Amino acid sequence: MFESNIRPIQWTGNHVKLIDQTVIPYEYKTVDIKTCREMADAIKDMIVRGAPAIGVSGAFGVAMGAKEFLDSKDSEEFLQRLELMAEYLKSTRPTAVNLMWAVDKQVNLAKSLNCSISEITRKLEENALKMLEDDIETNKKIGEHGAEIVAQGAAILTHCNAGALATAGYGTALGVIRSAYARDKSIKVFADETRPRQQGARLTAWELVNDGIPTTLITDGMCGYFMKQGMIDVVVVGGDRIALNGDTANKIGTYTVALAAKAHNIPFYVAAPYSSIDNSIETGENIPIEERNHEEVTYINDRSICPEGVNIINPAFDVTPAQYITGVITETGIYAPSELKQAVLSGV
Ligand code: MRU
Repeated sequence: MFESNIRPIQWTGNHVKLIDQTVIPYEYKTVDIKTCREMADAIKDMIVRGAPAIGVSGAFGVAMGAKEFLDSKDSEEFLQRLELMAEYLKSTRPTAVNLMWAVDKQVNLAKSLNCSISEITRKLEENALKMLEDDIETNKKIGEHGAEIVAQGAAILTHCNAGALATAGYGTALGVIRSAYARDKSIKVFADETRPRQQGARLTAWELVNDGIPTTLITDGMCGYFMKQGMIDVVVVGGDRIALNGDTANKIGTYTVALAAKAHNIPFYVAAPYSSIDNSIETGENIPIEERNHEEVTYINDRSICPEGVNIINPAFDVTPAQYITGVITETGIYAPSELKQAVLSGV
C-alpha cells in the first residue's frame, strides 16, 4: 500500500492541530484549534474542508465543547448546552453529510452514557480519536476496492480534492489513485482545477506531485476535449452526500464531468465511505446546496476579475443523478447505484 503521510487533523492531547488548507501550495502551516467555536470557524472558513475531514473535525469540536461545559450544574444542563453547540457546528457547512453524521454520533454517545460529566467528556475525546483512525482505515479499504477498476496504464480524471487533506488521511478518490499506483499500474491523473476555490489545482495537484504520481492539471472546461481525444479512461470523484438511490452531491462541476463521461462512454465512479451516504433520503432532490461568498468567484489572488455590478451565483455543490454513475466505491465494495440502498441498509 502506498502510504501518504498527510494528516490534516491531529489531536495533541488537549487541542487539535489542523493543516491550514487555505494557504497550500504557497505555504505549509498548521493552526491550533482550542475551542469548539474555533473549530466551527475553521470549518466555515475552509481551513479544514472535504466531507470526511469536516466530519472528524466536528467530532473533535464536540469533544472540546464538552470540556467547556464542565461547569454545568447537572448532566441535563450539560447535554442541553452540548446539543445547542452541536447544532451550531452542523450549520457551518450544510451539504456534506459527514459533519451531521459525526456530530450526531457524538451527541448520541453523550446522551447514552450513564456516568459523570467528566467521564462523558473523556469518552467523547476517545470517540473522536477513534473516528479519526477509522476514517483512515476506511479510506484504505476504499482504495483497495477501487484499484480493481483501474486498468494498467489508465488515465484517471478527478475533480476537486478527495485526497488525504479532505479526509483524516489517505483520501477517497485519491485513495483509489494511491492504491492503483501502489500496484504499479503506471497510471496517470488528470486533475480538474475546480473553480472557484481551485481545490484541484492547489490541493490535489500538491498531494499527487508530492507522491510522485504523474499528474496533469487542466481547467474545468477542458474535460470534454480530453475525453473526446480518448485521453481519459475513467473518472473517479469523491462525494459529499449520497442519497440511497446513488444520486451524489459533490463539488460544483462534478455533474458536468459526469455528463461528458456518459457522452463518451467513460466509466464514472464515486469513491466515498458509508458516512457520506445519507440514509434518510431516497434521492438527491432535496440535498441542501451550500451557497458561498460571491468573492470566491469575483476574485482571484485578491484581485477582482470582473466588472463591478455583474450578478454572481456561487453554489458550492451540484448533484449528479445516479443514471450517470457507474458505481459507488465504498469500504465494503463497489456497488451500482441500484445496489447501494440494499448494501447500506443491510449494513454489509
Ligand atoms: O467544499 P469542499 O472543498 O469541502 O468540497 C469537497 C468536495 O466536494 C470534494 O469533491 C470531495 O470529493 C468530497 S470530500 C472527499
